[in-house]
Amino acid sequence: MNQVEQLRQEITAKIAAYYRQAHAPRPFVPGETRVHYAGRVYDEQELIAAVEAVLDFWLTAGPRAESFEQRLAEYIGVRRALAVNSGSSANLVAVTTLCSHRWERPLEPGDEVITPAMGFPTTVAPIVQNNLVPVFVDCQLGTYNLDPAQLEPALSNRTRAICLAHTLGNPVEMGPIMDFARAHGLYVIEDACDALGTTYDGRMVGTFGDLATLSFYPAHHITTGEGGAVLTSDPHLARIARSVRDWGRDCWCSHDSPSSKGACGHRFEWQIPGLDEPYDHRYLFVEIGYNLKMTDVQAAIGLAQLDKLPDFIAARKRNFTRLYEGLKPYEEFLILPTWSGRADPSWFALPITIRPGAPFTRHNLVTWLEKRNIETRLLFAGNIVRQPGYRHIEHRTVGDLPNSDLVLRSTFFVGVYPGLDNARIVYMLETFADFIRPFVDS
Ligand SMILES: Cc1ncc(COP(=O)(O)O)c(C=O)c1O
Repeated sequence: MNQVEQLRQEITAKIAAYYRQAHAPRPFVPGETRVHYAGRVYDEQELIAAVEAVLDFWLTAGPRAESFEQRLAEYIGVRRALAVNSGSSANLVAVTTLCSHRWERPLEPGDEVITPAMGFPTTVAPIVQNNLVPVFVDCQLGTYNLDPAQLEPALSNRTRAICLAHTLGNPVEMGPIMDFARAHGLYVIEDACDALGTTYDGRMVGTFGDLATLSFYPAHHITTGEGGAVLTSDPHLARIARSVRDWGRDCWCSHDSPSSKGACGHRFEWQIPGLDEPYDHRYLFVEIGYNLKMTDVQAAIGLAQLDKLPDFIAARKRNFTRLYEGLKPYEEFLILPTWSGRADPSWFALPITIRPGAPFTRHNLVTWLEKRNIETRLLFAGNIVRQPGYRHIEHRTVGDLPNSDLVLRSTFFVGVYPGLDNARIVYMLETFADFIRPFVDS
């Protein structure tokens, strides 16, 4: 072993020791320890992976980002995964890709995109940012997903695409959605940011649409800190998406492509109209792009997290089932989640809606839980049309969006993430029971 290798081994051993000292889980004290709705779940492997990436000091997207992309694509079952710096960036890349002048039937300014009013704002923002018009449809109560029955009334002669999200890991009814999309020649983008590992009809979400997206923010199924990915099985869309992510450039060299010839094999032989001499492919810009790449340190953490993903998903499903069963006696007051018989959700969280007419409000229950150190979150934007930043955008709505309004008023969620152990789940259920008991007895 040479000296560099020996030093690396010593560093790695120290990191493992440091992890055990500094990050060791502390005992849970009911009422005092905060019960998070989500969070990073990791061990020394993630710390070692990150430090090794720092020791190599590639920093930008490099060998680890490429491995991460390959493993993600294999796991989901798509031809290409592109790592980006957030789920929001992934959505921006996906929508912008479909607007490319290099795509055969690009989305044009003023074209309409059907999307649920209830969801995360950055599912909708890229539609507006690309000068397209969102057509907001209502969600179903229980699944909180786009209601397929709303597609027909949403259709116009400008409709070109559907942007949907698999809310909190619960898959949209992709059968009727894809039938409708095919019948009307619409593109489909799946925001699978909350749904890594979810299947519908035995098939991973993210493989149905033309493009799909993931988020690796710490609340999600795996984390890279900030991070996300764009998925597609269409090589042409993949090439455009990569270009949109990478400053708009045409070049697809990987980190180790030979610099003289490039991945294309003729790097210095490209043409720019009006120029006599050939041009370097690395500086040929074919899209109005951004720089949204993931760094190699983030990808290193992501690779370590992917090793744990099957266990993470199993724990999320287990925790969901225990909480769901524990809350079932209160269905008189609470609308609990529902899911399709074709679905196998890899849950992000457990949504709860206070039933209209219940003798308490969401605010009453949420403040009760929060005061007892149980974290809650609202179901994102509720009805986005009512959010200050979205009130004035050009859009259409289908109907009055009553379910989205109910979510805005009465829905919240609690966590099911793998960091919840038995003691925390028991405490959560007891705290719910303490709140609801007086209403049951009265
Ligand atoms: C459905 C959905 N889409 C997009 C995002 C944005 O992801 P990010 O926070 O990585 O930008 C989120 C965030 O949680 C989300 O829930």
